[in-house]
Amino acid sequence: MTVHIGAKPGEIAETVLMPGDPYRAKWAAETFLEGAELVNEVRGMLGFTGTWQGNRVTIQGSGMGMPSLSIYANELIRDYGAKTLIRIGSCGGMQPQVGIRDVIIAMTASTITSPSSGIFKELNYAPTADWSLLRAAVAASEGKGCTTHVGGIYSSDVFYAERPDLDEQMVRHGILGVEMEAAELYTLAARHGRRALAVLTVSDHLQTGEALPSEDREKTFGDMVEIALEAAFA
Ligand code: ADE
Repeated sequence: MTVHIGAKPGEIAETVLMPGDPYRAKWAAETFLEGAELVNEVRGMLGFTGTWQGNRVTIQGSGMGMPSLSIYANELIRDYGAKTLIRIGSCGGMQPQVGIRDVIIAMTASTITSPSSGIFKELNYAPTADWSLLRAAVAASEGKGCTTHVGGIYSSDVFYAERPDLDEQMVRHGILGVEMEAAELYTLAARHGRRALAVLTVSDHLQTGEALPSEDREKTFGDMVEIALEAAFA
């Protein structure tokens, strides 16, 4: 047990999928894993371990934002020995060619501030996905009916942004979408020699104002979970 995860030693798999929403962790575990068992419910941040095609997988909620994700990813890596960590979550589209329901596989995650910013000081570190996972996820997405984009995303520390100029610069520089966790996940994985990736579904669009109706979410989010699982065990 750690401060925030109640799982016993051995109850967390080496491969961990991390949705922000604990109820999405429950849905994904019930939908995609065999023999899924609840391994964490501290603070309601649900985590489940089961198997997918014979491979052990944990699906653990990360909460929203980099400070929350940092707590869970640190404990998963340092205390439970997680080796492959894949964020599955939603993001806001930022480019005209990115549509609602599309999948984004994040090659890099730009950020202004993250829990790791303090250690980098003046250095603009570039949080980057693990290449083997990225390549496998792109290959997995090709067999599905979803439209997939691969490129840079922006990990913001606010959902209600007050800096339209910053969004404009992101758009100008080709950033595909905005979410709130991947940069810190990539940074922690690099620091500890682990593999990380973020596979995201576009749930809303900053330019068009469109948003995915909640009843439509399951099918699209399902593609994202399958891509993550296929990439993890490719
Ligand atoms: N996650 C989903 N949509 C988002 C948005 N518009 N901004 C930040 N995080 C998000």
